[in-house]
Amino acid sequence: MIIATTIEDVRCAVRAWKQEGLTVGLVPTMGYLHEGHASLVDAAVASCDRVVTSDFVNPTQFAPGEDLESYPRDFDHDCALLEEHGCDLVFYPSVDEMYPDGGGTTDTYVEILNNMPKQLCGKTRPIHFRGVCTVVSKLFNIVTPDKAFFGQKDAQQLAVIRKMVRDLLYGIEIVGCPIVREADGLAKSSRNTYLNPEERKAALVLSQAVRLGESMVAEGEANADEVVRAMTELIQAEPLARIDYVEAVDGVTMENVSVVKAPTLFAMAVYIGTTRLIDNFSVEA
Ligand code: PAF
Repeated sequence: MIIATTIEDVRCAVRAWKQEGLTVGLVPTMGYLHEGHASLVDAAVASCDRVVTSDFVNPTQFAPGEDLESYPRDFDHDCALLEEHGCDLVFYPSVDEMYPDGGGTTDTYVEILNNMPKQLCGKTRPIHFRGVCTVVSKLFNIVTPDKAFFGQKDAQQLAVIRKMVRDLLYGIEIVGCPIVREADGLAKSSRNTYLNPEERKAALVLSQAVRLGESMVAEGEANADEVVRAMTELIQAEPLARIDYVEAVDGVTMENVSVVKAPTLFAMAVYIGTTRLIDNFSVEA
């Protein structure tokens, strides 16, 4: 596996692959990789000739006071996992490589101006999706992939990126991959590492709410507010949990819906202690 720290080295490797007629898949990550990320790499390996994974904690998607400084990092572990799953190149740039003005700041952002990034996570993280779109655009410009792979756990991020790709005419196929869970149901997340043993137990309330919601929909509940109410009550019964949001939205536009029909997305963000976790499920056609 090639370890590239400069944009030039990535471009050089990708140029050579494309000259051979090979397809390229991109898996954007912030590192501290787990089985969720591994499943994205597996999907990329299965459908592309070469796979690039970026490993970069992107400063512009964190607001002051969020966990940019403490975000967990372990590049050696990441390389071992990527190697094992057949990644061909890991891109591990410095902040200055990605933000040439220095200090992780930029004068140029990619930002979706409609309501989509202001909904759900955007209500408490107003600059988050602008940072995500900006860094993902940079990665698309560097790697020029045929396909890019993102997890459904970040359902709003996936929808925002699909919208950006459509609006900016990127000729890139966006592939959404299913949520990967721990054996007891907790969605895999790099932030799970922040939880102490008591909080780790309490965090199960998110996947329990997902299961409750899924079973209500499976049994024919068509009133989205009823499903949200039941999920909310279940979470509120856990003393360590504090709800940021539990909502039903259209899975494409992120606008609130009150009738359950595909592609309704039930999404939540919940603080367990000081750790903010997200989870969701989608109603498919
Ligand atoms: O999902 C993530 O890990 C990040 O938001 C992403 C897409 C790598 C952009 O920094």
